Amino acid sequence: MLPVLRPVGGDEEVNAIRESIESGWWGKGPKVAQFEKEFAELVGAKYAVAVNSATSGQDLVFKALGIKDCDIMNPTISFMTTAVVPLWNNCTSNIVDVDPVTMCLDPEDVRKHLKPNTKAIIAVNQAGVPAPIDEIRKFYDGFIMEDCAHSCYTPGAGTKGDVAVWSFQAVKTMPCGDGGMITTNDKDLYDKLVPMTWLGISSTFSRVKKDDGLTGKPGYSWDYEVDMLGYKCYMIDLQAAICLEQMKKLPKNLELRRHIQKRYNEELADVIQAPPHSETVQYYCAKVDPNHRDSLIDYLATKKIHTSVHFKPLHLYNIVKDMNQRDYPVANVEWKKLISLPCHPGMNDEDIDYVTYWVKEYFAEQSKV
Ligand SMILES: Cc1ncc(COP(=O)(O)O)c(C=O)c1O
Repeated sequence: MLPVLRPVGGDEEVNAIRESIESGWWGKGPKVAQFEKEFAELVGAKYAVAVNSATSGQDLVFKALGIKDCDIMNPTISFMTTAVVPLWNNCTSNIVDVDPVTMCLDPEDVRKHLKPNTKAIIAVNQAGVPAPIDEIRKFYDGFIMEDCAHSCYTPGAGTKGDVAVWSFQAVKTMPCGDGGMITTNDKDLYDKLVPMTWLGISSTFSRVKKDDGLTGKPGYSWDYEVDMLGYKCYMIDLQAAICLEQMKKLPKNLELRRHIQKRYNEELADVIQAPPHSETVQYYCAKVDPNHRDSLIDYLATKKIHTSVHFKPLHLYNIVKDMNQRDYPVANVEWKKLISLPCHPGMNDEDIDYVTYWVKEYFAEQSKV
């Protein structure tokens, strides 16, 4: 079976985890600190806070900034996180239609549906394609959280919003099983977020002292203070160890993803509508005739090719349906065309040949019917 998405790791990741295990420090420690530093450098942010998922990261930003009891905008083509995080903070999830090409927020629909109590917009860079934040900024000067779950790493991503949240979940471009990162240039926000990842407690790692004050040997201060509420959602060294290795492989893995994108674009030009260019190709979201989408998915499954759909629009889910009783003329039409073809660093040219062959074969068979 050729999976639609999958992580690829090897000896480097195994050795990095072994090193952490043998060091005796498995929790949040030096590897997390190193990963936060290197990641902040990669994306050009002043501060980075590693967390156990992008979902936790988005929720933590809401809580740190006291965003609650208000209206939050997010695009309908997205993962459930961006609808559910507002709801958990007692906000309405104001779901907006998308641009038919980028499948990111449609600035006109954003303008049309802004409410006096809209306190934040979650701008999703769908499949790594940048959301139109500059356009939105022309008429909205409120808070923007840039959802960079698919953007690791698109040059410039994470720099347009007030804060950015990244995902290292198992099938993302830089995976570690599960994990996330909040990046920001706001020192006050950073200072709040760090203790909030651990119940409001000051960090264990920073309580390790070079000198115990008595013998001159390393020591440990047991005491800590708690001044604010927090969750337990920090990243641990075992996750950071994998991320640090995956980060070294990122340029090569992204090159391969773009190679897959290029070959699909060229070789399937007659039978699919290619997605807009993505630097990360987190998902290769092709579009096909909606009358054929589901049967193509079933047909490819019989050839042992897994596909998916990114995403079924959020406004169709029960949890937010009632608060979004309006028309979504673009998403309602476009999502029925979506099919994500296999795209991950475990693929080689033979796999790409195999996918393109069977996609073309499906349409050739259909034309004879
Ligand atoms: C657009 C988007 N935002 C947020 C998330 C949540 O990421 P995580 O699984 O790290 O919580 C995802 C996950 O797929 C996503 O696709």
